[in-house]
Amino acid sequence: MLYSEKVMEHFAAPHNVGEIENADGIGEVGNEKCGDIMKMYLKINTGIIEDVKFKTFGCGAAIATSSIATDMIKGKRIEDALKLSNKAVVEALDGLPPAKVHCSVLAEQAVKTAIADYYRKQGIDPTPIVGEIPEHCHGDCSNHD
Ligand code: FES
Repeated sequence: MLYSEKVMEHFAAPHNVGEIENADGIGEVGNEKCGDIMKMYLKINTGIIEDVKFKTFGCGAAIATSSIATDMIKGKRIEDALKLSNKAVVEALDGLPPAKVHCSVLAEQAVKTAIADYYRKQGIDPTPIVGEIPEHCHGDCSNHD
């Protein structure tokens, strides 16, 4: 089978779908190659991600990775959420077909972009904390394949 059971589960019934009103941080990333877009909303209180929701206009793997990525950062400290790698997301899904690994990069970037937005809203330069995020991954995402 091409997709693991975990992927199918999260694709069929994704967790944390939606929007957060007055979110403390919003991150939107896209992959120009496939045209898929992921938007992530964070509610942050005293350094803890209290709530997270997402909307993904994209492929099944992108939906499954955003679903599990939001599960993985909910209730966590910002520092821990920043450590979330696309590799960890893929592992938590029991793997993805190689052609679909780039979709998990979108989830990692959406989390980082939303956290960067949170810091920016606090008047803090996010770059030293979050690091460089490839600008919305516009242009060429092929280096993530
Ligand atoms: Fe575009 Fe999966 S094919 S994110």
